[in-house]
Formats: sequence, C-alpha cells, structure tokens
Amino acid sequence: MKQLTWILIVVFAASLLCWGFAVSQEKPKASTPKAASEKADTAKVKEHAYVGASKCKMCHNAKKWGKIHDKWAATKHAGAYAVLAGEKAQAVAKGVKIENAQKSDKCLVCHVTGHEASAKLKGEKYSMEEGVTCEACHGPAGDYLASHKKKDNEKQAMADGLMKPTEELCVTCHNEDSPTFKEFKYEEALKLVAHHKPTKEELEKEKAEGK
Ligand code: HEC
Ligand code: HEC
Ligand code: HEC
Ligand code: HEC
Repeated sequence: MKQLTWILIVVFAASLLCWGFAVSQEKPKASTPKAASEKADTAKVKEHAYVGASKCKMCHNAKKWGKIHDKWAATKHAGAYAVLAGEKAQAVAKGVKIENAQKSDKCLVCHVTGHEASAKLKGEKYSMEEGVTCEACHGPAGDYLASHKKKDNEKQAMADGLMKPTEELCVTCHNEDSPTFKEFKYEEALKLVAHHKPTKEELEKEKAEGK
C-alpha cells in the first residue's frame, strides 16, 4: 500500500513537471509563426518615417565611405520619378489609359520611395522626386538614423528599421508587374547599383591616382 502511494506521488509530480514544461514551450511557439512575425515586420516598417536622401549624404558622401550618395545619384534609381515624364513613359501610360504617369499610383508604387506610406510618415526633406532612394532599399530611417551610426549597435539599428537589402527586396519592384519588364538578373543588376565602404588599400590607391 505504501509503495502504491509513492508511485502515485511520483506519477503526479512527473505529470506536473511535463505540464509546466509544455506551458513554458507554448509561449514562444505561439508568437513565432511566420505569418504573425511577417505582419509584425510590415507594421514596423510602416511606423518609421522617411527622411530623404540628403540626410544620408552628409555622412555617406565622404571619401572614406566611397561617396555612396553620389554613386547612387548616378544610377537610374535616382531618376526613377523623372523617367515617368519621358516619351517612353507617356507611351506606356497611354497603353494602359493613364493620363499622367507621375500622378498615377499604378506607376509611382515602384518609381518612388515609400509611395504607400501615409503622409504623416514623410518628413520635411522627403521628396518623391528623388525617385528610388537609400530608404527604398535600407528602410525608412526616421528611427535608425540615430542608432545605426554607433559601432556594434546593429541589433538596435535593425530593430529601428535598418534593412540589409537582398534579391527578395529588388524583386518587389523588378518583376512582371513592371510594364517594361524583361528579366532581372540579380548578380548583374547588383553590380550596376552596388556601393561599399572602400578598404584602406582602395583609399590609398585612389589617393595615389590623385582622386
Ligand atoms: C551622422 C553620420 C551618418 C548619417 C547621417 C547616416 N549614416 Fe549610415 N552609417 C554611419 C556610420 C558611422 C556607419 C557605420 C556604423 C558601424 O560602425 O557599424 C553607418 C553605416 C550604415 C550602413 C551599414 C550598416 C550595416 O550594418 O551594414 C547603412 C546601410 C547605412 N549606414 C545607411 C544610411 C542611410 C540610408 C542613411 C540616411 C537615411 C544614413 N546611413 C545616414 C553614419 C551615418
Ligand atoms: C512593379 C513595379 C513597377 C511598376 C508598377 C511600374 N514600373 Fe516602370 N519600371 C520598373 C522597373 C523595375 C524598371 C527598370 C527595369 C524594367 O524595365 O523592368 C522600370 C522602368 C521603366 C521605364 C524605363 C524603361 C526604359 O527602357 O528605359 C519606364 C519609361 C517606365 N518604367 C514607365 C512606367 C509607367 C508609365 C508605369 C505605370 C503605368 C510603370 N512604369 C509602372 C518598375 C515598375
Ligand atoms: C522601389 C522599387 C525598386 C527597388 C526596391 C529596386 N529597384 Fe531597381 N529600379 C527601379 C526602377 C523604377 C528602375 C527604373 C528607373 C529608370 O529607368 O529611370 C530601376 C532600375 C534599376 C537598374 C537599371 C536598369 C537598367 O535597365 O539600366 C538596375 C541595375 C537596378 N534597378 C537594380 C536593382 C537592384 C540590384 C535592386 C535591389 C538591391 C533594386 N534595383 C531595387 C525600382 C526599384
Ligand atoms: C537599390 C537598392 C539600394 C539603394 C537605392 C541604396 N543602397 Fe546601400 N546597399 C545596397 C546593397 C544591396 C548593399 C550591400 C548590402 C550587403 O552587402 O549586405 C548596400 C550597402 C550599403 C552600405 C554598407 C556599405 C559597406 O561597405 O559597409 C551603406 C553605408 C549604404 N548601402 C548606404 C546607402 C546610402 C547612403 C544610399 C543612398 C544615397 C544607398 N545605400 C542606396 C542597396 C541599396
């Protein structure tokens, strides 16, 4: 009889433990299904304000940064709004019965930065005339502008909306919904718009060449 009591106590204690474990496991599981975390991500992206490319220029146009701003300004991305006023755009727009491509959501959605964000998220220096800017690829900077420039603070910067662009991002615009789309080869395309912080050797080489 004594033995049976002990067995019952042990079984009861074990099931309590299992139950406790299951509950502790449930919590993180419940909050991490992909759809939910994706929703949270888009909600976050929408929260951050756009500040405009001039805010990046003051630091990232320095020689030590490889003049990233000027490099971007020389790419077609910087002219993506302007191109909508050209002859080709007018012809494309006419084909789909759009009168003014620069005023149509159907074109602006890929040809300017943050078109779908609400007006209150567009700062003083934001201008759709800047086309596809830094913030189209790296995320709206209202919050990470301050946090991202500190060393070893990447985690916080990412939480504040800083993005590391990948092919997945490019094809949100470079896809068949683009009326002039042919094909998108990521590696090749990346070469045409890439920028990086020059290494010491690269900087020395530039100096020697008198740039
Ligand atoms: C006050 C100067 C300053 C301004 C303004 C600034 N940055 Fe930076 N940025 C930095 C510094 C410094 C780093 C390097 C941080 C580090 O050491 O990790 C950096 C790093 C970055 C990186 C690389 C981050 C990584 O972890 O790989 C990106 C992308 C970036 N900045 C984008 C931007 C964009 C976009 C803007 C404008 C919206 C901007 N920055 C404005 C100073 C600045
Ligand atoms: C899904 C995103 C997307 C939409 C929507 C979009 N575009 Fe574009 N557009 C692009 C991309 C990406 C390129 C560059 C590569 C290409 O042609 O696909 C581009 C390039 C262009 C070019 C330059 C083509 C050239 O050969 O020089 C014109 C003109 C243009 N688009 C007009 C329009 C007009 C007009 C509309 C609205 C009716 C529109 N686009 C809607 C993404 C888009
Ligand atoms: C917000 C939408 C958007 C995103 C995101 C985007 N692009 Fe573009 N891209 C465009 C538009 C619009 C054009 C056409 C601009 C023009 O012709 O004036 C373009 C043009 C280009 C061109 C020039 C194409 C040509 O025919 O000369 C290259 C290369 C390019 N993009 C590469 C990339 C890469 C690589 C990424 C991702 C790292 C990317 N783009 C992300 C919208 C976008
Ligand atoms: C078409 C998308 C696109 C646009 C527009 C863009 N970038 Fe980038 N940027 C990238 C990609 C892709 C990388 C490389 C990311 C990586 O290596 O992880 C990058 C890297 C960087 C880095 C890190 C460089 C390094 O070597 O550490 C900085 C800083 C940066 N971008 C700043 C800017 C600024 C400032 C602008 C606007 C003036 C801008 N970017 C516009 C796509 C873009």
